[in-house]
Amino acid sequence: MTEPITATLDDPETAREEGRRKMDWARQHMPILDSLWTDFERDRPLAGETVGMAMHVEAKTAILAELLAAGGAEVAITGCNPLSTHDDVSAALDAVDGVTSYAERGVDDEAYYAAIEAVIAHEPSVTVDDGMDLVAAIHEDHPELVDGIVGGAEETTTGVHRLRAMDDDGELEYPIFAVNDTPMKRLFDNVHGTGESTLASIAMTTNLSWAGKTVVVAGYGHCGKGVAKKAAGQNADVVVTEVEPRRALEAHMEGYDVMPMAEAAEVGDVFITTTGNRDVIVAEHFERMDDGVLLANAGHFDIEVDLDALSELAVDTSEARDGVRAYEMADGRRLNVLAEGRLVNLATPVALGHPVEVMDQSFGIQAVVVRELVESAARGSAGQSGGRGPRDSEYAAGVHEVPDELDREVAETKLAAEGVAFDGLTDAQREYMDSWQHGT
Ligand code: NAI
Repeated sequence: MTEPITATLDDPETAREEGRRKMDWARQHMPILDSLWTDFERDRPLAGETVGMAMHVEAKTAILAELLAAGGAEVAITGCNPLSTHDDVSAALDAVDGVTSYAERGVDDEAYYAAIEAVIAHEPSVTVDDGMDLVAAIHEDHPELVDGIVGGAEETTTGVHRLRAMDDDGELEYPIFAVNDTPMKRLFDNVHGTGESTLASIAMTTNLSWAGKTVVVAGYGHCGKGVAKKAAGQNADVVVTEVEPRRALEAHMEGYDVMPMAEAAEVGDVFITTTGNRDVIVAEHFERMDDGVLLANAGHFDIEVDLDALSELAVDTSEARDGVRAYEMADGRRLNVLAEGRLVNLATPVALGHPVEVMDQSFGIQAVVVRELVESAARGSAGQSGGRGPRDSEYAAGVHEVPDELDREVAETKLAAEGVAFDGLTDAQREYMDSWQHGT
């Protein structure tokens, strides 16, 4: 049976202290969550709810979990990737009143899914996922819980893709907010967060410079744009590969070289995949690469770089540095894979994930949508509005956009915290924007 992290560590007390220190530092730089804290402690909007979470368990996520507990929820949490948990943070989180953490770094597949089951055993009434593993397990193995679930929130692009596919098949049984897709998340977390943390993690893991390198970015979506921009900012030459013609054109107009992966394989020094797709770098590409290249993935799953094919081509492998596995080819070339092809900004031993300020925004959205799901069910069951979803929620089963007013609320809180003032529309401007009668 899976036990909370505290039961599995040799020295939980020291781990808790170190984890708490990391969490305190994060919280100092999370003004949005801090501002919500005051409201949540006062109003206890989540009282009586159980929030099940499967996310990258490091300091910023821990602050979100702690905030939800401060809002009255019982919280059960585990990781959403076997390599991204910080055990000390997980231990500190487990010590928070109302929170149980099962997340542990380096678990095998069996233990990973057992921890998801342990979270589900708390019978969550709200789910908060990064990649949809919790939602999938509930639908596949615990459908009896659905009636008690008020809704869920999904953090990442790949999770939202999976949920939409499930919704299209008519299989999604409760409402889920696509947190990933809302401006306050996607335009900052995916672009700037992934850009900064991917480059930082690769640099810290390898101790190599960006300047003068050719960096191949696979996928010019939100994450790819951030990675390309930050790499260019570090004086690297950037090559982009794409499968979507408008994205390829955008990259070209930004001044990057755009070419197929088969050509890029011959010129790249560092390869970073950001597609959310599979088999982006495969055997034919490995065969063309130079000795010493770095291969890193920033997409959600570890299927973008075909490690099975690379293993088959390799005559030997060795741990070149912590978090770097060198695959030696028959001709002597060494291709270096970071973090076992898992999210490089979260899964190398020194990875810290996105900058704190960025996650403050993403998790600010998470917190307000969890509150909204619970309040919506309360409004519905009080007869104030028609209940369409489970527990009379106003939100029917399916994927929902984050309501614009909630996105704005978080943006305004952030701007206020940054001391940034901005203009508002005058009545005349508002009337003009709303009218079709004004012409030349
Ligand atoms: P997006 O949909 O904006 O961009 C993906 C891009 O990849 C698209 O332009 C698509 O045309 C392109 N693409 C698809 N297959 C390709 C192929 N075979 N070769 C080249 N390009 C290809 O998605 P977004 O938001 O950029 O997310 C990408 C991935 O990163 C997802 O798996 C997402 O979950 C993950 N993600 C990772 C984060 C991290 O911390 N590392 C943070 C946020 C998202």
